[in-house]
Amino acid sequence: SSIATPSSLTRSVADSFVFAFDIDGVLVRGGKPIPEAIKAMQVLNGDNAYGLHIPHIFLTNGGGKTEEERCEDLSKQLEHDVQPGQFICGHTPMREMSEKYGTVLVVGGEGEKCREVAEGYGFKDVVTPGDIIKHDAATTPFRKLTEEEHANCRERDFNEVTIDAVFVFADSRDWAGDIQIMLDVAMSKGGRLSERSETFDEGPPFYFSHNDVVWSAAHEHVRLGMGALRRMFEVTFKDITGGTGKLNTHAFGKPQVSTFEFASRLMNQWRQSEHGISAAPKTVYFVGDTPESDIRGTNAVNKKAENDWYSILVTTGVYQEGTEPAYKPRITVETVLDAVNHGIEREM
Ligand code: G3P
Ligand code: MG
Repeated sequence: SSIATPSSLTRSVADSFVFAFDIDGVLVRGGKPIPEAIKAMQVLNGDNAYGLHIPHIFLTNGGGKTEEERCEDLSKQLEHDVQPGQFICGHTPMREMSEKYGTVLVVGGEGEKCREVAEGYGFKDVVTPGDIIKHDAATTPFRKLTEEEHANCRERDFNEVTIDAVFVFADSRDWAGDIQIMLDVAMSKGGRLSERSETFDEGPPFYFSHNDVVWSAAHEHVRLGMGALRRMFEVTFKDITGGTGKLNTHAFGKPQVSTFEFASRLMNQWRQSEHGISAAPKTVYFVGDTPESDIRGTNAVNKKAENDWYSILVTTGVYQEGTEPAYKPRITVETVLDAVNHGIEREM
């Protein structure tokens, strides 16, 4: 019963199980594919003992580009076609908040790229730290805009602007400047940079696309991530407001159960539109490298969901062999290829 052969297709498609993959530390490190990942994708594409095609999606906390651009990058890296319909990044769920706020400050990413992403999500009025520095260069004493940045940033009179919410879309490229500006907004009266609050409890909400303190990049040791920026922001806010102020911060991404539920909806749509399967899968194999995000979230959604979310931890990224993972996976294997083979063996 685990094989469906839609009449329109000649290939066999697994209908009772799917795979969901984390990206950094599982498939890619520092922009280069983990070698076994290419073979793992071929196995999902039917290069297995059963000639079976296995539906799969990607769920990363990373971001900084449009979903379309990220899929193009990933398709090249993995030598495997990846479509936006099977891809979720850290900021994808922020799309659902575009109607809620008028003017938003978008932080992180390369140049003004994340403004473009946010506008693509339907946010009506997007400002960036660069716009604020362009308006008042004294905002960040050690960060001067380059000529190109100056040309790309927008002229705004921030005495007249109310920032309704702050969205940290991707990793900051200038932690000092961005933290400074986030603190200015948090300490403002209702998001107006020209007015300081006396109580420091009336700033707008801050949304982070994820909360990973570290992640797996090209370096042999893990690198600081957005969760570390959030910690620095929160601790510094407490220090400079004397502990009396109040911040309103939230994180999307893994391990939030809502992110896995979002992924579950996308997965069902993808299986329906791409493979003609309408029943929910019995088992979802989630392959990740970070116990605190991937394994924690998979185990948590498993407690709520009707289907079985089966967590697989690999040793190619954040988690280091020989240590005790903070959240226990159903199984630990070396690479993503071992993870795919393990799932297939369990099913067939
Ligand atoms: O910045 C990205 C990183 O924190 C995690 O990415 O693919 O491991 O969820 P990923
Ligand atoms: Mg990862």
